[in-house]
Amino acid sequence: MQKTTAQLLENPQLLQFESDKLLKRFSSSLKTLAKQSFPAFQLRLQQVLPKLLQLYLTLYGNQYDCYYQLEQLLKLLAKSSAQRPDYLKQQDLQQEQQPQHWHQSAQALGAACYVDLFADNFEGLANRIPYLQQTGINYLHLMPLFKAPVPNSDGGYAVSDYRDTMPELGSMPQLAALMQQLHQQGIKPVLDFVFNHTSDEHRWAKLAKAGQQEYRDYYFFLTEQERDQFAPCLREIFPEIRRGCFTQDADSKRWIWTTFNSFQWDLNYGNPQVFNAMAEEMLFLANQGAAVLRLDALAFVWKEAGTGCENLQKAHTVIQAFNAVARIAAPALQFKSEAIVHPDEVVKYIAPGECQLSYNPLLMALLWNSLATRKTRLLSESLRRRFEIDPHCSWVNYIRCHDDIGWTFDDDVARQLGINPDHHRQFLNQFYTGQFPGSFAKGVPFQQNPINGDCRVAGMLASLAGVEQAQSEGHTLHLQHALARINLLNSIILSIGGLPLLYMGDELGLLNDYSYQQDPVKKDDSRWVNRVKLDSQQLLEAQSKTSSSGRIYQQLQHLITTRASLPETGAGSTRILTCDNPHLFSYQRELAGKTLLCLVNFSEQPQYYQQLPAGHWVDQLSGQSYQSRVIQLSPYQVLWLRH
Ligand code: GLC
Ligand code: GLC
Repeated sequence: MQKTTAQLLENPQLLQFESDKLLKRFSSSLKTLAKQSFPAFQLRLQQVLPKLLQLYLTLYGNQYDCYYQLEQLLKLLAKSSAQRPDYLKQQDLQQEQQPQHWHQSAQALGAACYVDLFADNFEGLANRIPYLQQTGINYLHLMPLFKAPVPNSDGGYAVSDYRDTMPELGSMPQLAALMQQLHQQGIKPVLDFVFNHTSDEHRWAKLAKAGQQEYRDYYFFLTEQERDQFAPCLREIFPEIRRGCFTQDADSKRWIWTTFNSFQWDLNYGNPQVFNAMAEEMLFLANQGAAVLRLDALAFVWKEAGTGCENLQKAHTVIQAFNAVARIAAPALQFKSEAIVHPDEVVKYIAPGECQLSYNPLLMALLWNSLATRKTRLLSESLRRRFEIDPHCSWVNYIRCHDDIGWTFDDDVARQLGINPDHHRQFLNQFYTGQFPGSFAKGVPFQQNPINGDCRVAGMLASLAGVEQAQSEGHTLHLQHALARINLLNSIILSIGGLPLLYMGDELGLLNDYSYQQDPVKKDDSRWVNRVKLDSQQLLEAQSKTSSSGRIYQQLQHLITTRASLPETGAGSTRILTCDNPHLFSYQRELAGKTLLCLVNFSEQPQYYQQLPAGHWVDQLSGQSYQSRVIQLSPYQVLWLRH
């Protein structure tokens, strides 16, 4: 007798039974499709299908064609297993035999770049591999490079074709060759999986516009009444560009869901065909060589009327289902979560069965906060509650990225510390846009919301940390402080636990590029101020002993090489400590009885640390030793102390 979805979901044994039944039924057709990959494929399918079935039924069990769609999905998994290149199959095998936590090594170091800004095109990027290696990078996120509308594509985050590239960068086969070359050179390539939306020039969107119902169902074409069931609860993401989250279709007058720009159409994951179609695109990217996919805007992928349509339970189910798909057809593939949301929600995406990696926006925002206030309580308190994650997963710790800085700390923690969260965010925006008296920062406001006053900040690391201002003043001490701030920030992302991620250009302290203000396409999106072009002259500066660029690069190198020699900075656990001195931040890394005590002075005044445990401590960065209980840290000094 056919079991109902509810019965299956309640009972793991029934699920197992059902999944065995499906396997038997489909076995011969899957065998034909998976070709010589079938034995390995079948084994994985046996292991993972009960889970996938559970997730699929949770999402689509109430659809009349649920099992038919599941069958289509299994077929495409089999097909894409057959297409997986041999070198990736080998990685799959290794991953299964001995799960590698490559992201937890003291040598693991990531970077992100736009191909055109960093190296013009794929060929240019291949030529820059030696520079990446010299810097110590072994994980490289190539920012969106897919075919996208011209001229405006939200920096590539409006994808018109997941299987084609922007022609000026090179072709998809060239990208695949580049990614294989990166693998061979020990660098893991990372691509975006922009799966919340496509551009309005995607084939599906064009067919939808042309009136084909099948493709209209890929998106949301809502009547005014339907739209109004959702609209009141939604957050506006780009309020300066466009109010609300919907765009009216000129022909049908229906309202298309567009969380971001009006040319970015949200996909409807309530439709199993959308899930299947995107699973196919995902596996295509995995088979081109992506070791990690960055799950763009993942918080938004599930919508339910009457909710904010962010971070819903079924968004997690969708991602877990994609993860199950990857375990079957591309096991070496890992996911990185891009959830720039409340810290309690950020951590929910992190799990071996969901996203193995996640940006750490809380650390990012609060590092900047502590530099502005010279105080570390909010940082320490927040991290004490939210730093620990599943031991198989890793934070991706970053200081800057291609986007804005949003002040996503927890209001409750702030209030407990006597900080008014709204006022404090206003202060931070003022501070980092250089409007607060005495500020060292030169950032640019991003997406000021006229209704609620919300705002975020854009800028390059060096400009936000004070280099730009110090240089224009010609102030030597201020410049020294700015370089020390950069060193401080780098030291933390390199030692606090997780994969550090550099944003290319920041390693050389490149400044804001204001030319976007003259570009009619970019002028309304101030994030372009921190998307700067690198030329070979600038790369040569890395070796200079006198320029700021050279000094920034070399102090970073010193941190990277020191870290590489300290295993406890890679694997191991983190303990955020309590400091008597409110300007100091301290944490401890522990691994197999070895301890690294990290002390950081967030102020430009000397500070005393009065809690050094007895014994003989050596700072791994300077070689200096410390034995007394009270020690002095110079302005912005960082100590990595080993017993
Ligand atoms: C992510 C990207 C951002 C983009 C948005 C919409 O947040 O980082 O650049 O605007 O998604 O795709
Ligand atoms: C919003 C989104 C985030 C994205 C950003 C783009 O904050 O939550 O995902 O990076 O907008 O600016």
